[in-house]
Amino acid sequence: MKRKITVGFLMLSFFAFSQQNTIDQKVNALLKKMTIEEKIGQLNQYTGDNQATGPITINPNKEAEIKQGLIGSMLNVLGTKYTRQYQELAMQSRLKIPLLFAQDVIHGYKTSFPIPLAEAASWDLAAMELSARVAATQAAASGIHWTFAPMVDIGRDPRWGRVMEGAGEDTYLGSRIAAARVKGIQGKLGDVNSVLACVKHFAAYGAAIGGRDYNSVDMSERMLWETYLPPFKSALDAGAATFMNSFNDLNGIPATGNKYLQRDILKGKWNFQGFVVSDWGSIGEMVAHGYVKDNKEAALSAITAGSDMDMESNAYRYNLAQLVKENKVSITLIDDAVRRILRKKFELGLFEDPYKYCNTEREQRELNNPEHRKIAREVAAKSIVLLKNENDLLPIAKSTKKIAFIGPMVKEHKANMGFWAVDLPEVDYNKEIVSQWEGLKNKVGKNAELLYAKGCEIDDNNKEGFAEAVATAMKADVVILSIGERWDMSGEAKSRSNIHLPGVQEELVKAIQATGKPVVVLINAGRPLVFNWTADSVPAILYTWWLGSEAGNAIADVLFGDYNPSAKLPMTFPRDEGQIPIYYNHFNTGRPAPNDTATHYVSAYIDLKNSPKFPFGFGLSYTQFEYSNLKLSQTKMKKNETIELAFQLKNTGKVAGEEVVQLYLRDKVGSVVRPVIELKDFQKIKLNPGETKTIRFSINKEKLSFYGKDLNWIAEPGDFDLMIGSSSTDIRLKTIFELIE
Ligand code: BGC
Repeated sequence: MKRKITVGFLMLSFFAFSQQNTIDQKVNALLKKMTIEEKIGQLNQYTGDNQATGPITINPNKEAEIKQGLIGSMLNVLGTKYTRQYQELAMQSRLKIPLLFAQDVIHGYKTSFPIPLAEAASWDLAAMELSARVAATQAAASGIHWTFAPMVDIGRDPRWGRVMEGAGEDTYLGSRIAAARVKGIQGKLGDVNSVLACVKHFAAYGAAIGGRDYNSVDMSERMLWETYLPPFKSALDAGAATFMNSFNDLNGIPATGNKYLQRDILKGKWNFQGFVVSDWGSIGEMVAHGYVKDNKEAALSAITAGSDMDMESNAYRYNLAQLVKENKVSITLIDDAVRRILRKKFELGLFEDPYKYCNTEREQRELNNPEHRKIAREVAAKSIVLLKNENDLLPIAKSTKKIAFIGPMVKEHKANMGFWAVDLPEVDYNKEIVSQWEGLKNKVGKNAELLYAKGCEIDDNNKEGFAEAVATAMKADVVILSIGERWDMSGEAKSRSNIHLPGVQEELVKAIQATGKPVVVLINAGRPLVFNWTADSVPAILYTWWLGSEAGNAIADVLFGDYNPSAKLPMTFPRDEGQIPIYYNHFNTGRPAPNDTATHYVSAYIDLKNSPKFPFGFGLSYTQFEYSNLKLSQTKMKKNETIELAFQLKNTGKVAGEEVVQLYLRDKVGSVVRPVIELKDFQKIKLNPGETKTIRFSINKEKLSFYGKDLNWIAEPGDFDLMIGSSSTDIRLKTIFELIE
């Protein structure tokens, strides 16, 4: 048996090797036929006719240039009809090199899934892989070859609007999610349902100073390697085909022209064989950065640094040939970039059939696949975080007779998709997206009377609707209030200095709470918001983020207990903007504050607590879990050994539920200071009422390693606190072990 497996494995490896070999031969043969203009054409990407996703600064004659072989890829061309039209033009070019169609498929294509930050809250890797798979299947059916996802930037600053696109603040969780998403997107490359993933934004974009988008990043080498780079490495190890660089400068060098990042780390140390695309216009933007004097110098800097494809700068198109002529750029550099891109086109099978992704029937079938909506509903329910539930107000009893549903989000359709949703021109989103009102109606049917009032808008000062909202609430047995951010308040270029609930919404909450009716608040948002009064005063809160096509149904599933919430926050929620950046895995100071009230000569604010409003890893359930009986296989471990640990998890409540058990470590003494607590593993466990399971984890050297002062991963001998928690601040079991030489 073993021999058979070994032989099978060898044959498979040989097959993959020889396939790659054949592709390389084909790429080289093609390269020999290409003029320098055609080569540079492959490095050139333009936006198409759909909504532009950046500032338009160039206006090329795309049709003519495609026919001349001067364009290698396009973004923002949606649907088989349009991708086919452009591909037909490419087939009129001399060498008939197919175009590569890219799109930001960030959280679903036609079927919209929760925003990535929301999905991250599910801590459910299989669910995230599946949602990425569905998105890729639909995109591929619609003519797309390549998605600009996953975004794996660590986000520790909720003022930064792009935290909605990522997996939150934690490097370990973010790395696991990055790998799951890449696998989901790419499936099996070459298969017609698969698209290329593009890991972005390389690198450190999430650390923009002040949370202001596109801003500079200044960080130590240690922090770069330990906190910001691992999710990229994890995505690469999962097979990511392409990378996108980022807008920010890192320690003074724009990422796009950053040789250290792209050539030394990514293509050097990590041996990345795919290609790097610039971000939108980021090559040209190096002029504004003050790093180069014009587009020509920008092209020189970017190609030298390892950016293979130019998105929307026109810097390569008009300057590279001249730079080669002047001997400033060697043709081997260009050939390397072209090879990387052509290889992907071959791997996708586009040379065999450039219209492989252009089957209209398949497009219709996949875009309307009911199974996809079912998955979207499940993933959406899994993404909802229960932040508060006093006196078990939730789930709402199905026998409730009168429910008031109040707030500016209640009857919205498209707004539930949030930022970075694919906006297909032919789709009627009032039908496509289940509003929260419809979801509730679907759930209660004729069993309950539903009352509605809008109350106010999301973001203005008008309180005229309050009276009607209060009167409506007075008539009901329970009030559900749906408030939050408008869809375009978190996303690219949506940084906010004030992340409190916008407009007069919190005043609406006060007015409704004053009625004395039981109030459930739903908060729709793309980032952690500040809502202290609401958090302290209303009995029940669900953080619903932006949930996509099935938002209404998923919310109703959770409200009525058909799904027991299991999500946990992937980002810390601050009490106030003044605490930002705030993240759970911080270092201690020499004068740590012993509690939230001490301020005298300790590291604290005199006007604000240190603790967050809601911590990383936090989220409630309709049931309770008891942790007990932690046992370690050994309390001393050598570097080549593994500690096995086990404990009991029991569902002590009345309903079935899932718990995300979180394993944290603290390296007590390090040659560089270590975080007070760090996530190192987790599992999501489902238990029936009364059921107990033994949960096991192993701890190896890798989990104990950090990026040391010699700029290498090391595990240092000494004591480690081991903590098992239901959140980063709710530690249920704790012990200590020692790493020995
Ligand atoms: C964003 C990228 C995106 C690209 C193309 C840029 O503005 O930063 O994340 O993929 O536009 O739409």
